[in-house]
Amino acid sequence: MMNTKSTERLLDVRGLTVEIDGRNGPAVVVDGIDLHVDKGETLGVVGESGCGKSLTMLSLMRLLPNKIKVTKGSATFDGRDLQTMSNGELRKVRGGDIGFVFQDPMTSLNPVMRVGDQICEPLIYHRGMKKAGARARAVELLRLVGIPGPEERLQAFPHELSGGMRQRVMIAIGLACNPKLLIADEPTTALDVTIQAQIVDLVKDLRAKLGMSVVWITHDLALIAGLVDRVAVLYAGTVVEDAPVDELYARPSHPYTRGLLSSIPKLSDPPASRLSSIGGTPPEPGRRPKGCPFAPRCPLVEAVCHEKVPRLEPLSGSSHRAACFVVQRMQEAA
Ligand SMILES: Nc1ncnc2c1ncn2[C@@H]1O[C@H](COP(=O)(O)OP(=O)(O)OP(=O)(O)O)[C@@H](O)[C@H]1O
Ligand SMILES: [Mg+2]
Repeated sequence: MMNTKSTERLLDVRGLTVEIDGRNGPAVVVDGIDLHVDKGETLGVVGESGCGKSLTMLSLMRLLPNKIKVTKGSATFDGRDLQTMSNGELRKVRGGDIGFVFQDPMTSLNPVMRVGDQICEPLIYHRGMKKAGARARAVELLRLVGIPGPEERLQAFPHELSGGMRQRVMIAIGLACNPKLLIADEPTTALDVTIQAQIVDLVKDLRAKLGMSVVWITHDLALIAGLVDRVAVLYAGTVVEDAPVDELYARPSHPYTRGLLSSIPKLSDPPASRLSSIGGTPPEPGRRPKGCPFAPRCPLVEAVCHEKVPRLEPLSGSSHRAACFVVQRMQEAA
């Protein structure tokens, strides 16, 4: 098949570092992340709870909570630096060219504002629509995300909706302005599996229609396998592996990714062996080991892993990269 996709870079994150100002001084939670998304591309970001997925994305939008800040690195969107642009410029990008679906709809929807007004707001602010036009578009968006009786739902307050409905409202808001980039942070966790699949299909469809790029954050690699072009695997605030999705499934390289993939249950597995999760827990912020952050849990660990931090390096010159001394050495030997 011919690759017709352009490879123009839309989002480019380099060495992004985020620190939390805690009681025992600053602690690194996002440690020099490199991520990129090309125009029209969909990137899946996976990793277990607490590995820094949400903080990474919030830092791009400069929406980090109090006492958490970016201390190093850069992020450019469409050639413009997100970290240094003025607040006014950033407001134009946020919710306009970059649509965001936050992980927790209850804290990101305004509890005292009707759902319809919350969907209309970006349309009026970013796209200069008149109220009537914006309402018509809001109805269309609610229908698109599978909300029945959308005209009546516009009048509802967030607390009058179920968790799944609120999540769909968030998705409608994220998509409202036909963004160039949609960043979706666990957008379907509160939904039934059938609805999850519908939302994945909806995003696929819109991506094809609008040429939108997507960053989809999840724990659930299986859910997004058919949606994403490429996957970045995060561990303890760093990217430990990234590769085209088929390549990642065919040849997972980093021991952490291999652990993640073998913990995806297969129907053919006997029930008892379905969740073979990785032993141990990730390091707490402020207690990062000196070397590779995965070393304390790694089945392949060697002396060097406790001493030095491995860099993300291409494997055999391909677009598949892994940050692991052992994997890199095996590649060289091969
Ligand atoms: N407001 C906060 N105050 C203090 N620590 C925080 C705060 N938000 C996040 N953290 C810490 O920062 C680290 C990264 O958090 P983050 O929310 O980015 O993880 P995540 O990968 O999105 O996890 P999940 O899959 O559970 O959403 C975690 O150790 C978390 O405990
Ligand atoms: Mg999160």
